Amino acid sequence: MHNLDQIVQAASAAFAATDDPDALEQVKAAYLGKSGRITELLKGMAKLPPEERRAAGAAINRAKDAVESALNLRREAIREMALAARLAEEALDVTLPGRGPSRGGLHPVTRTLERIEALFRSIGFEVADGPEIEAEFQNFTALNTPEDHPARSMHDTFYLQDESGGVAEGVLLRTHTSPIQVRYMQAHVARHSGLATMPEIRVIAPGRVYRVDSDATHSPMFHQVEGLWIGENVSFADLKGVIGDFLRRFFESGDLQVRFRPSFFPFTEPSAEIDMAFMSGALKGRWLEIAGCGMVHPNVLRHVHIDPEKYTGFAFGMGPDRLTMLRYGVNDLRLFFDGDLRFLRQFV
Ligand code: PHE
Repeated sequence: MHNLDQIVQAASAAFAATDDPDALEQVKAAYLGKSGRITELLKGMAKLPPEERRAAGAAINRAKDAVESALNLRREAIREMALAARLAEEALDVTLPGRGPSRGGLHPVTRTLERIEALFRSIGFEVADGPEIEAEFQNFTALNTPEDHPARSMHDTFYLQDESGGVAEGVLLRTHTSPIQVRYMQAHVARHSGLATMPEIRVIAPGRVYRVDSDATHSPMFHQVEGLWIGENVSFADLKGVIGDFLRRFFESGDLQVRFRPSFFPFTEPSAEIDMAFMSGALKGRWLEIAGCGMVHPNVLRHVHIDPEKYTGFAFGMGPDRLTMLRYGVNDLRLFFDGDLRFLRQFV
């Protein structure tokens, strides 16, 4: 059966010459398929004389087994080659540093707000909060701001749309944190209504405010910190003391000057703008407006049922964005709100 050995050798060589599963299946068909060479030999046995069939059948089946085992070996080898190729492709460099969660940091304005809160808490102020979508009453009316005051106009104030697309009545995005004064006084009066003498109000209220305004020193959303101190005999001198002391502690510098420049707000009388300047350093001598302030107008106190004959007090509205610019030497307000990590990472 010389011929059978040749067939087995030829099949083994053909298997060895393939290196992917499809090609291997085709070679298999040529030997073991329906009209493969081994299959044909088995079919041919019918023509042999009966006495030769037994031996021929055994020999052909041995050859068939040999071809099948060569096939299986090659199959296994091809599978291992594919696996090795995939492992090489997906190889991990375990020496690379890991990609852990990166550490966030506080926004510079948040740092300022936290600093302001800590300094005012240290002199007995509470910290209060209020809604950013505010009622016209708290934002303007209770603050003694007449219907026809320019601040109410569409140019300064973001109004809200109702469902039909018209201007929603009586609500707006607060244009300042002063409405929190009103809310806080209303709650305070309600809380202490039975008492002959109302406990002092000493509160600051930081938050976002909104105005239709945008350039290097104005952003449509910015921050304010409202301050309010109401009691018996609270005077303008107290206001000057509190603000001057705060600024020197905030900037950790005795080398700055504060000036109160007469101004107007409907809800304070008298009113002033607070300017400050450093007396040394890069910003030496440059005056910058950082707050509005004044003695709370009697009409405002009346609106919240506090007797202006008995109680007086001051209020201020400070710009923490400006304070942040001064503290870190930033010259464009918009940088705070662009969300550019290259800028923000410098404060972490
Ligand atoms: N609310 C004023 C503003 O936004 C600032 C201010 C607050 C003035 C409190 C006086 C008293 O301009």
